[in-house]
Amino acid sequence: MSKRILVTGATGTVGSELARLLVTAGCDIRAATRSPEKAERLFRSEVDVVELDYRRASTFDAAVDGAEGIFLQAPPFDPDARETLVPLLDWAVQAGVGNVVMMTAMGVEVRDDLPIRRLEKHVESLGVAFTLLRPNFHMQHFAGGFLGERIRRTGAFSMPVGDARVSIVDGRDVAEVAAACLLSDEHDGKEFTLTGPEALTHQEIAETISGVIDAPVAYESVSDEEMLARLTSTGWRPEIAGVVIALYQSVRGGVRAPVTGDVAQVLGRAPAAFSDFAARNTDSWLSVVGQNP
Ligand SMILES: NC(=O)c1ccc[n+]([C@@H]2O[C@H](COP(=O)([O-])OP(=O)(O)OC[C@H]3O[C@@H](n4cnc5c(N)ncnc54)[C@H](OP(=O)(O)O)[C@@H]3O)[C@@H](O)[C@H]2O)c1
Repeated sequence: MSKRILVTGATGTVGSELARLLVTAGCDIRAATRSPEKAERLFRSEVDVVELDYRRASTFDAAVDGAEGIFLQAPPFDPDARETLVPLLDWAVQAGVGNVVMMTAMGVEVRDDLPIRRLEKHVESLGVAFTLLRPNFHMQHFAGGFLGERIRRTGAFSMPVGDARVSIVDGRDVAEVAAACLLSDEHDGKEFTLTGPEALTHQEIAETISGVIDAPVAYESVSDEEMLARLTSTGWRPEIAGVVIALYQSVRGGVRAPVTGDVAQVLGRAPAAFSDFAARNTDSWLSVVGQNP
């Protein structure tokens, strides 16, 4: 019988890739989103879509009904991640979900004060099988979202991280690891820190993008104050922008530099390098060289 799995954040970087991988593996998937029309456009009829909003308990029943496993992730930069996700988690376990694979973030295990670490501890206490995935920043960050847009529009990006190194990871590798953890009980109770194969500076990231699109891409290091002002002036709520700045501070502290062997341990192959990711995603930056104004 095919395994029924609820994939949260199914319109996002990792969730969308994971939903497709699980369908290919023969699972019965529910792809959860607050906007079913958006997900139906994304998946066409490949995947069953269900409406789910972590903040609306009225959406929980239909999402968790009959699910054996769940892939869980907090909304990006959520300063209240524990309060946001515990109601759904408890509901799911009560409804019979026996396996939780949760994506948090690299380095949270040493920060007991963070809501996301307290959420991990809640998962550990539920009495069901679980795996914790802690990825570094996804490479997709530089191709989509506010950074990708900035590079496309201006051929430059700024971050308050100086020449600190980051072992960024391909979100596709994170999805593949999540699929492996949902499809087998081999990884139950384990924690994986998921990184790419090398730690790069943002200057090196800019040079790599520049190399694949054959046009200049500049990286500028700015102060926390400057970054905070830029984020809030473009509509970021101050408490969310604060979470972003704290993340950058952890980058400067070297927390995001180590390279681990965890992707290779689960997948039996090396993680993708940023140069491969960039070559595969050249279209994302094309407006830099004027092809996509
Ligand atoms: N991006 C990174 O580099 C990175 C690195 C390490 C860890 N993480 C962690 O991964 C998680 C996702 O971040 P991301 O940047 O990968 O995000 P993303 O790709 O933009 O995906 C976020 C997903 O969350 C869903 N979502 C947001 N609010 C929701 C709510 N109230 N109820 C239900 N679903 C909701 C969105 O679905 P709809 O809008 O369709 O409802 C979307 O599919 C975060 O917890 C983040 O800390 C991210």
